[in-house]
Amino acid sequence: MLIIRNVEPTDIFAVIKLSHETLTEHYSPSLFNYFYETFPQGFLVAEKNNKLIGFIIGIKTVDDSVRILMLGVSQNNRKKKVGTNLIRRFFEIMYENNVRKIYLEVRTNNEIAIKFYKKMGFNIIDVIPMFYQSGEDAYSMSRLL
Ligand SMILES: CC(C)(COP(=O)(O)OP(=O)(O)OC[C@H]1O[C@@H](n2cnc3c(N)ncnc32)[C@H](O)[C@@H]1OP(=O)(O)O)[C@@H](O)C(=O)NCCC(=O)NCCS
Repeated sequence: MLIIRNVEPTDIFAVIKLSHETLTEHYSPSLFNYFYETFPQGFLVAEKNNKLIGFIIGIKTVDDSVRILMLGVSQNNRKKKVGTNLIRRFFEIMYENNVRKIYLEVRTNNEIAIKFYKKMGFNIIDVIPMFYQSGEDAYSMSRLL
């Protein structure tokens, strides 16, 4: 059974491992604690059979806006709606926290994620050249709640 829930401190190590497996960019481990401490409402995990198989991290920016920084689902659990369930629960929790706008950046060549985010109601609003350390460009995408 799939469970979507807020992260707990004891999950952080598994989330860091999952982020290394699923994301191109690698982030300092201390950042994950920082995200948990500053905006735990925006840090959710997906759990199946007592194993973490997905996560999403959003941070509060200005007023009623949140920026999704990371979203990942483990390779062998993809295309099974785990990402959909994670982001839908994220939308609900953000709405309850008076968030009305969500935005994010995604690599312009990450076709799967772009398709995923479009299906979740996001629109491309801008291109940000050389956004990533690798020199790759990003699309800025957003949606209202
Ligand atoms: C993007 C990601 C989170 C999607 O998670 P997921 O659980 O596999 O996605 P879902 O099963 O909920 O898919 C929902 C929709 O997204 C799109 N999608 C997801 N995977 C896709 C694929 N491999 N090919 C084409 N479309 C895809 C489809 O529109 C899909 O709807 P459908 O199943 O009705 O066709 C996952 O692929 C992932 O972890 N990718 C690597 C990390 C990443 O790129 N993160 C985003 C940038 S930070």
